[in-house]
Amino acid sequence: MAPRVDHQADLRFMREALAEAVTVLGRTAPNPAVGCVIVKQGRVIARAATAPGGRPHAEPQAIAIAGRRTAGATAYVSFEPCAHFGQTPPCADALIAARIERAVIGCLDPYPPVRGRGVARLRRAGIAVDIGVLEDECRRLNEGFITRVTKRRPFVLLKMAMSLDGRIAAPKPGGWISSEQSRELVHRWRNECDAVMAGAGTVIVDNPRLTCRLKGGRDPVRIVVDAALRTPPQARVYHQRSAAPTVLVTTPENMDRARERYGRKVQLMAVRGSDAGIDIRLLMRDLAASRAISKVLLEGGAHLAASALHARVVDRVAFFVAPIIFGAGIPAIEGLQTSRASHAIRLNNLRARQIGPDWLLEAEPA
Ligand SMILES: NC(=O)c1ccc[n+]([C@@H]2O[C@H](COP(=O)([O-])OP(=O)(O)OC[C@H]3O[C@@H](n4cnc5c(N)ncnc54)[C@H](OP(=O)(O)O)[C@@H]3O)[C@@H](O)[C@H]2O)c1
Repeated sequence: MAPRVDHQADLRFMREALAEAVTVLGRTAPNPAVGCVIVKQGRVIARAATAPGGRPHAEPQAIAIAGRRTAGATAYVSFEPCAHFGQTPPCADALIAARIERAVIGCLDPYPPVRGRGVARLRRAGIAVDIGVLEDECRRLNEGFITRVTKRRPFVLLKMAMSLDGRIAAPKPGGWISSEQSRELVHRWRNECDAVMAGAGTVIVDNPRLTCRLKGGRDPVRIVVDAALRTPPQARVYHQRSAAPTVLVTTPENMDRARERYGRKVQLMAVRGSDAGIDIRLLMRDLAASRAISKVLLEGGAHLAASALHARVVDRVAFFVAPIIFGAGIPAIEGLQTSRASHAIRLNNLRARQIGPDWLLEAEPA
């Protein structure tokens, strides 16, 4: 007899699985961040998330916690259980061996060795499977992993803080544009993204640390895009005490000079140049292929943001608009040379929410 389905309970327990997955965002590369909750007779008997570093996966950990009680239980998993022998045996097999009666899955895994196979394996073993509970949230949680697998580059979130008249800096440096609440949200994003990226101009003018200053947070990889090696070797970003490295991206021709100029503590990456500096498309591909970077928080400045938009590697913009007017200073995006409105970069799904005194505008380039 098919197990009884309670849609409200499914939503509630999938939310709990998602809550588990959120805690390990940015820590599971090269694997997705997955949450698993095992429920028996309406009660959660185990919960787990993918371990830091990507292994063990969430399902075997939850099964181990539940022990023998898994027989006849329901497993809520935010992402399709794997079906292939990687460095660990397939999670679908672990659920089968645990005699789970029903599996509720948030979204399918687009990774070719898994795609639909995890579900097929479970169904072949007689497990009732429901897919797509809180699907959008589950997909969004792993938008980095999904983008890396399907587009072979990281998901790029372009964040900028600007005045109401669209300036990201006043003519002279000093002072914050956005509120403390907005800046705290950015630190949460740094905590969850694999890497944070800035251009040479930003490092020269702002001298940022590009670390995560949240209590209990972790630093993303810091990436500086500096084709001509204009950033000073004493810049803060190159001298952080941090578990994550700083990576300086320059052209192959400048690698020897970079090694001399920045020393051993700074990791170097050579990427072919383009008219604007570094070829951003190539850079993103390399970050995905060589470092398994799935999500990049691009923090400007104006020229690097323009290059990324022009190269069509930006997946979402997040503009914090503060209630101030400059009337002078640096425009948010510089160098696209759009000559008429019909050539503009269009965005879909524009939405706004208030963060302290600021408005956060988010949208996806069409
Ligand atoms: N409010 C905010 O959210 C925010 C955030 C960041 C920055 N900012 C402000 O933005 C200003 C800096 O912006 P910016 O436009 O001068 O500098 P930027 O965008 O940070 O860096 C541009 C530089 O990066 C290098 N680069 C390498 N490859 C590139 C590529 N493909 N496309 C673009 N640049 C590439 C180039 O220098 P090389 O040729 O030497 O490599 C270029 O001059 C500062 O005033 C800062 O305060 C504001």
